[in-house]
Amino acid sequence: MKKIAIGSDHGGFLLKEFLRCRLEATGRQVVDFGCSSPDPVEYPEIAFALAKAVAAHPEEYDFGILCCGTGIGVSIAANKVKGIRAALCADCFSARMAREHNNANIITLGGRTTGTELAWEMVTAFLGAKFQHGIHESRVEALTKA
Ligand code: RB5
Repeated sequence: MKKIAIGSDHGGFLLKEFLRCRLEATGRQVVDFGCSSPDPVEYPEIAFALAKAVAAHPEEYDFGILCCGTGIGVSIAANKVKGIRAALCADCFSARMAREHNNANIITLGGRTTGTELAWEMVTAFLGAKFQHGIHESRVEALTKA
């Protein structure tokens, strides 16, 4: 099974640690791109590093998970990396649709906006969903080409 890349800034640190532990407890191999404490860090640096790894090594990573205070900053940063489709999610339907319709390869979450159990449900929905191809294929291709 491929690995999951996970990363956060200080605003998402506790959520990232929670999700990493849950994923490991369910047998998933997780690569942690930091941060490693609640001390302030620059979220673009962590988001770029993780997004570049996910984009460059699809054979190694299934997906990425990025957390910051709101999930917004890491989403903006990750989506600047070619080949990345990062989806900021706040509900399970969106998390599933992000995979099924948008073929998202990173989910972003807010550590200051989202409870841990809801976040886990969203990650479970995201990881369990599959891209539906069909009419969504050309739209996602257009995103990749842009
Ligand atoms: C850090 O204080 C905060 O700005 C960051 O975690 C994130 O919410 C940015 O989008």
